[in-house]
Amino acid sequence: MRILLTGHDGYIGTVLAPILRDAGHEVRGLDAGLFSACAFGLQPDPVPGVRRDVRDAIPADLDGFDAVVHLANLSNDPLGNLRPGLTEAINADASVRLATLAREAGVSRFVFASSCSLYGAAGQDAVTETAAFRPVTPYGQAKVDAEAGIRPLASDGFSPVYLRNATVYGVSPRLRFDLVVNNLTAWAVSTGAIRMKSDGTPWRPLVHVEDVSRAVLAALEAPREAVHDEAFNVGREGENYQIRDVATIVGDEVPGCEVTFADGASPDTRSYRVSFAKIAERLPDWRPTWTVRDGVRQVRDALEGLDLPPEVFEGPRYSRIAHLESLLASGALAPDLRRTTWPASGDGAATPAPALANA
Ligand SMILES: NC(=O)c1ccc[n+]([C@@H]2O[C@H](COP(=O)([O-])OP(=O)(O)OC[C@H]3O[C@@H](n4cnc5c(N)ncnc54)[C@H](O)[C@@H]3O)[C@@H](O)[C@H]2O)c1
Repeated sequence: MRILLTGHDGYIGTVLAPILRDAGHEVRGLDAGLFSACAFGLQPDPVPGVRRDVRDAIPADLDGFDAVVHLANLSNDPLGNLRPGLTEAINADASVRLATLAREAGVSRFVFASSCSLYGAAGQDAVTETAAFRPVTPYGQAKVDAEAGIRPLASDGFSPVYLRNATVYGVSPRLRFDLVVNNLTAWAVSTGAIRMKSDGTPWRPLVHVEDVSRAVLAALEAPREAVHDEAFNVGREGENYQIRDVATIVGDEVPGCEVTFADGASPDTRSYRVSFAKIAERLPDWRPTWTVRDGVRQVRDALEGLDLPPEVFEGPRYSRIAHLESLLASGALAPDLRRTTWPASGDGAATPAPALANA
């Protein structure tokens, strides 16, 4: 297949692109490169494509593709709180518009990176794909609205698929430490302690970045009737955790780490347990292989010997919201989060370039 991968330059995209290529597909990217400077270790293999804001996608961007994988969104709840209207514009409106352009261009499959965040305050029971949406953030609401806007586009020739990913962890060339497993592991390695400011009771489903990427591949390669206009929770049975369980696992796996919890309920209203029965049944070729414990070990080992101080993990290189705030402060981003300067491909250096420059 010839695949357009938006958000190819991010945390998931830099792991997914080589997996798609290794499976024999041709991959081209579309990304504003918001986090091109956020390298962890080696630079990812370059992906040919377009440096463009997804809000400004043009019909020619979709020409000649068999499939689109759409990852290019503001990628988490705190980002959604930064500028709620922009989260809706980028994550919902631009996603629906991209799907419309894809359908008009004759693209037959459109895999949208949705999120289990749309279940929001779901409570104790494991929710299936038919559960009510109770988003508690602009980010969760925008995923609801994107799915609702894309769904009417489904047709004989156009098959959208909504992958509702669990919260992701694991090593990537654009590693994020604002995700819970990566964050707790980094703090433990860096400081020898995890001090939870709450009792850590909220539930969260968790999935490794490679397993998420292989789920995208499975959704692309599955027969149309298995995935047409279907939503899938992406994760593995048994991989719903209370945050306190994650902290305890990190404490086990990082030698000498002390874990403490404060009394009282967490202020975090995002608590949801998710059923992964549907994806296991409909996409049987997809076999997730990671557990949180494996992922903690992977991140721990990747950090070994780097001696990074804890504040680095909250700073612009590894926290998406901190990075956007630094780009806004430097003027590299306009208030609407459109780029005023464009990063070169590869090294992330900011270079002035026309708005539609190719990477
Ligand atoms: N990481 C998770 O835990 C998680 C969980 C569920 C769903 N998702 C979804 O998966 C997708 C990818 O997440 P990620 O963790 O790789 O995020 P990321 O922030 O690392 O990457 C997002 C990529 O999209 C690009 N992008 C963002 N806004 C853009 C715009 N307006 N125009 C063009 N490019 C733009 C960024 O430059 C970046 O390369 C997102 O849609 C996110 O909502 C992620």
